[in-house]
Amino acid sequence: MIAQGRVTVNGKVVRELGTRVDPARDHVKVNGRHLEPVQPHAYIMLNKPKGIVSSLSDPEGRPTVKDLLHGVSVRVFPVGRLDSDSEGLMLLTNHGDLAQALVHPRYHVPKTYLIKVKGVLRDEEIKSLERGVELEDGVTSPARVKKVRKAEQNSWLEITIHEGRKHQVKRMLEAVGHPVSKLIRVRFGPLTLRDLAAGEFRYLTDREANAVRDLVRDRTSSETREQNHSARNKARVSSRLTRREPPSSPRPGSGSTLSSAEGSRASARLSSPKSGSSDLGRATPHPSRGSMRRSA
Ligand code: URA
Repeated sequence: MIAQGRVTVNGKVVRELGTRVDPARDHVKVNGRHLEPVQPHAYIMLNKPKGIVSSLSDPEGRPTVKDLLHGVSVRVFPVGRLDSDSEGLMLLTNHGDLAQALVHPRYHVPKTYLIKVKGVLRDEEIKSLERGVELEDGVTSPARVKKVRKAEQNSWLEITIHEGRKHQVKRMLEAVGHPVSKLIRVRFGPLTLRDLAAGEFRYLTDREANAVRDLVRDRTSSETREQNHSARNKARVSSRLTRREPPSSPRPGSGSTLSSAEGSRASARLSSPKSGSSDLGRATPHPSRGSMRRSA
């Protein structure tokens, strides 16, 4: 690009490879378009207090998390949300891809909440929360629930979920008859709130930022492996059926060899993009469950 004269610095074409620029002062254009300087990634942990909206702006004019980020000049965005009457750990970052992966239901990032509920849960109610409860938007995925302590008419629990539906924890507890009166997010993936005071924020340490990046990398690469595995299996089965090869040596007259018509019908069924009900025809939907079901 440089040799072709497509790059300008402060309005002058540069042709010398290795020309150095100061991103804060120099105006660099490629093909006439201004090149934005790359911002380093910033990762901030905030302990959101009750009464603060978890977005950057609020149409009703209530205070938002932005009001708490004194002195932060980088534009960071909240990763996921917390209800305004909920408290605890919020991650904010300008690393868009990472933020998207962290909230995507496919990656099952665990979130742990310390909650105060009305009454004391019976063992069957805890089991039912752990198995999954029926909500209006479907049954919840398995959760982990730990009793923490009893407090007069109330009790404290710790619940870990891997989804992020709106008001999910409150709705789950409501479904088993124990409304939530306090909710604090204490863990998000590998991050823990520890002693960060309500309303305070801090930048993640390198170790924490690496742990978050590793989590996303591991989950996306295991998904890619799943998809490749599924595509290979699908291609193998489809080609075997098209060639009308039996999966193993058939006994003469056993009837296990597909006739030509059966073979092409089966092949069409297995490879048709419309065959949503076939496990082999389906795109990998779930990194942890897909391969078991498909190979069964
Ligand atoms: N579940 C809820 O019900 N509220 C939150 O803020 C977070 C999880």
